[in-house]
Amino acid sequence: MNIVVLNSSPRKDGTITHILKGITSGIAKEYNIEWINLYDYSIKPCTACMKCRPDDECILPEDGGQIIGRKIRDADGLIIGTPTHWGNMSALLKSLFDRNMTAFIGEKTNGMPFPRQKGKPAIIVTACTAPWPFNFITTQSRGAASAVHRILHSDGYKLLGKIIKPGTNKKPQIPQSLLNKAKVLGGKL
Ligand SMILES: Cc1cc2nc3c(=O)[nH]c(=O)nc-3n(C[C@H](O)[C@H](O)[C@H](O)COP(=O)(O)O)c2cc1C
Repeated sequence: MNIVVLNSSPRKDGTITHILKGITSGIAKEYNIEWINLYDYSIKPCTACMKCRPDDECILPEDGGQIIGRKIRDADGLIIGTPTHWGNMSALLKSLFDRNMTAFIGEKTNGMPFPRQKGKPAIIVTACTAPWPFNFITTQSRGAASAVHRILHSDGYKLLGKIIKPGTNKKPQIPQSLLNKAKVLGGKL
């Protein structure tokens, strides 16, 4: 099993990074884990040319968009961490998804989309400064997690679970109980 861990936080020592490490600590030793720090890559925005539909891959000059898209497309499972930015996923993660529409969702000849990642396991991690219950009520971390989930669902991924850490401004420490939950989730892959 090849698992991609996609850290889409610009902070390499932030909350998302630590929770992702918690998840990987629970993954079976024989699995191959590829950790990707998304913000190490340059990803140009999608130009909405729609050429990826007939061509099956983005036609823009090669950058992190195609490189990471192929890694995710070929992996057996995906763990995505995103900070909550404006009640949504981080900007570069959205660009990555935009640039890889057909890697995840194909199109049948009758124009109907189909999920290309059907049945592959996925985990979503997010964090935000809004404290509980405002992170949920005002769709802060809830907005980020559900935006990522919507895309993964369209791709056919099977969501094993979500880990959410609210209130990171006033309570930056990650409770051991949350790290334990992350480890258990990693073991389900
Ligand atoms: C551009 C930007 C937008 C943000 N938007 C929100 C937001 O909408 N709601 C919120 O509660 N926190 C927001 N935050 C705070 C981050 O979600 C929070 O600091 C989170 O813990 C970052 O996780 P990280 O340290 O792993 O990157 C924002 C931070 C940045 C930099």
